[in-house]
Amino acid sequence: MKIVKHADELKKEIFGAKNTGEKIGFVPTMGALHAGHKLLVERAIAENDFCIVSIFVNPTQFNNKTDLEKYPRNLDVDILLLEKTGCDLVFVPNIEDMYALEEMNIPFQFDFGGLDQVMEGKFRPGHFNGVVQIVSKLFNLVQPDKAYFGEKDFQQLSIIHRMVKIMNYKVDIIDCPIVREPSGLAMSSRNERLSTEERKKASEISKVLFESRNFVNSFTPDELSQWVIGEVNAVKGLKVEYFEIVDIESLQIMRTWSKPTVGCITVFCGAVRLIDNIRYIIN
Ligand code: PAF
Repeated sequence: MKIVKHADELKKEIFGAKNTGEKIGFVPTMGALHAGHKLLVERAIAENDFCIVSIFVNPTQFNNKTDLEKYPRNLDVDILLLEKTGCDLVFVPNIEDMYALEEMNIPFQFDFGGLDQVMEGKFRPGHFNGVVQIVSKLFNLVQPDKAYFGEKDFQQLSIIHRMVKIMNYKVDIIDCPIVREPSGLAMSSRNERLSTEERKKASEISKVLFESRNFVNSFTPDELSQWVIGEVNAVKGLKVEYFEIVDIESLQIMRTWSKPTVGCITVFCGAVRLIDNIRYIIN
């Protein structure tokens, strides 16, 4: 596996792969890789000729300085994990490779069509600007045929689909299902920051989400939201930031079950902010 640190070196590798007609599969990450990432990488390897993973903790998508500082970083362990998968190249740029100095102070603007006004966007202003900014830069460099993203970050995935459509990127975005620990807890790099006790409490989030599916025929979306928030908040140490049942396309809040819906939740478990979601199937 090649470890590439600079954009110029990456461009040469991409030029070589494209020249021999290889299909490029790409998995962008911020590192602290877990079994969920591993599945994305394995899928990218299986479905393409050349697999590239990027590891870059992108400062422009953090609206909270402490969150950026505390974001787990395990580069050596990540590289070992990637080597075992058979990944071809890992791109580990530094900030100067991805951003010109002046860019860090000018907010990046993108027309999200309202997708950024709800849920994460409401609580993390500017977050999705930073995500689109870095993912578009990475797509320009890597020129992937397919790029793999986890459905845990449901809103991020919707925004990436919009970005690809609006900016005419020639890349297939592959939505990959949430990977869960045996307890049901959605896998996340942030789980590393949970104590054993907190991890147990955090697993209640998915239990409540799965149980809530039993009530779709008797509750309205609003009633179901209240129920989920109440049940999660009843676990000592968990505090819901939001739970919203939204249309899977527009991400607008649903008042009835008239369209396919997803329930998205963000919960603080101590100081750690966790997200998860669940699809509701209406009979
Ligand atoms: O989901 C993530 O890990 C990040 O938001 C991404 C897509 C790698 C962009 O920094």
